[in-house]
Amino acid sequence: MASTSQTATAPLTSGLRTAVVPAAGLGTRFLPATKTVPKELLPVVDTPGIELIAREAAQAGATRLAVVTAPRKQGVMEYFERDELLEETLAARGKTDQLAKVRAVNGLVDAVAVDQDRPLGLGHAVGCAESTLDDDEEFFAVLLPDDLVLPAGVINEMVKIREELGGTVLCGFEVPESEVSNYGVFDIEQSEGGVGGVAGEDVKKVRGMVEKPDAADAPSTVVATGRYLLDRSIFDALRRITPGKGGELQLTDAIELLIEEGHPVHVYIHHGGRHDLGNPGGYIRACVDAALQDDTYGPSLKTWLADRLGQEN
Ligand code: UTP
Repeated sequence: MASTSQTATAPLTSGLRTAVVPAAGLGTRFLPATKTVPKELLPVVDTPGIELIAREAAQAGATRLAVVTAPRKQGVMEYFERDELLEETLAARGKTDQLAKVRAVNGLVDAVAVDQDRPLGLGHAVGCAESTLDDDEEFFAVLLPDDLVLPAGVINEMVKIREELGGTVLCGFEVPESEVSNYGVFDIEQSEGGVGGVAGEDVKKVRGMVEKPDAADAPSTVVATGRYLLDRSIFDALRRITPGKGGELQLTDAIELLIEEGHPVHVYIHHGGRHDLGNPGGYIRACVDAALQDDTYGPSLKTWLADRLGQEN
């Protein structure tokens, strides 16, 4: 699995301009920490999830990061502000490595705040970002910051698929049949891609989605993940849906509406890793995974883990 310490690759000119990052949720699975610390600021080794997402968006060619935040989570936006005193102090003390780390987020993307006053659901959060898009922007990405998808680069593939097939492109993972009941599962069919085009085995047409089905009722073993390339028509669909589960406006309901109306929706099946940073169990795995690949912390962590696991037997 690739490290979260991503190498600086030149951003691609992909036509993608805006990446929307919904970060206004309550983070209840991570209480009590998230009572005061937004989960997007919790570090994977030393880098907050929101910076990993900003890097991924920039690598996919996005220049604008529309961060949907809540009044109680202002620290998320503060993370994108320069701290000149800190930078000057690190420079004066010759702490060049730390200075480079602090500066890495500067100028990565233009981070703009989008207010969501109340957590009325992912669909509502995405809808709040409409006014940040340029008038001629036909599509945009949504990256859920608590979903770490490895290696980065999935959005680039999804942009290529949209170029060929149009419409909306989602991202899926294959999971064992025994695990499907934990996820939103895609109902899919083979897509009609051109020979030699991007629409191969890993691109399917989406007929619908089933939320957390019993394994026996699951339409496939391809499950949804937190990367979306949405056609602008999603905003109109979001205005036409009614609150679903938990009284929240669900993004998947708006996507279902587009499918019903004949809008092309495809899923790209990503073969890579994934960590759910939104709950302590997934977060710990992400930290261990990244730390094991870290030159500074990896070797001693490996030795300690082997020793510690030996004590379990
Ligand atoms: P989650 O349901 O995973 O996040 O939403 P949550 O609500 O913060 O977490 P739990 O379930 O209470 O632990 C997926 C993403 O959508 C954002 C969340 O911040 C998260 O990044 N979201 C969700 C919003 O921005 N607004 C909402 O109203 C709901």
